[in-house]
Amino acid sequence: MAPRFIARQLSFPKGPIGRVMGFLMNLHNARINEFAIQKMTLRPPEKVLEIGFGGGLALAQLIGLSQHLSGVDRSEDMVRQANWKFRKAVENGRADFRVGNVEALPFADATFGNVLTVNTIYFCKSLEACCNEIRRVLAPGGQAVVGFMPKEHMAKKKMPADIFSLRTIDDVTTALRNAGFSETRIERPEETPEWAVVLAKN
Ligand SMILES: C[S@@+](CC[C@H](N)C(=O)[O-])C[C@H]1O[C@@H](n2cnc3c(N)ncnc32)[C@H](O)[C@@H]1O
Repeated sequence: MAPRFIARQLSFPKGPIGRVMGFLMNLHNARINEFAIQKMTLRPPEKVLEIGFGGGLALAQLIGLSQHLSGVDRSEDMVRQANWKFRKAVENGRADFRVGNVEALPFADATFGNVLTVNTIYFCKSLEACCNEIRRVLAPGGQAVVGFMPKEHMAKKKMPADIFSLRTIDDVTTALRNAGFSETRIERPEETPEWAVVLAKN
């Protein structure tokens, strides 16, 4: 079993150890984030939201690709760090980062063209509530991009079950469809097929 404090930090990075975890997540999750962004359909001028950005790996790329980037993470420390790292974009009004929960997103309906979330689906208490919220903040025709490690691979990491809820591709696709997304598609990186990205059109 992975040590509980590591699992807790991955789910909710806090304090100096949380900042180290953010750095390690950036290293470990580089490929899946890069792949998810490659598959994302961005139509300029696009407003993009990233949910659960952690160490801010994807934010660095998304800032350059979008007209305006919002980020939400439940960790105050990760939000403080993003506001500092990307302060120029924040000062120029091109980005904003705030504390919030995927199950109650602090944004109006139909705000975004794209919503990206990578490695956060394990922490949704209710997959249904998370998918409903993601759809609510997407504009008609918008796209949700959900990157994660499916249950059969994630199970090998032996994360504590009360912190990590493991999900199959089918669980995620079904929840997105039940939330009202019209089309879903699955992409897997050839060289690291243990990861999956589900793309869903609103
Ligand atoms: C494992 S990290 C992944 C970070 C980044 N997306 C990556 O792929 O490296 C999970 C992040 O999601 C955030 N998070 C977890 N559950 C969340 C929730 N319910 N609402 C918002 N953020 C959440 C955590 O605070 C953490 O920063």
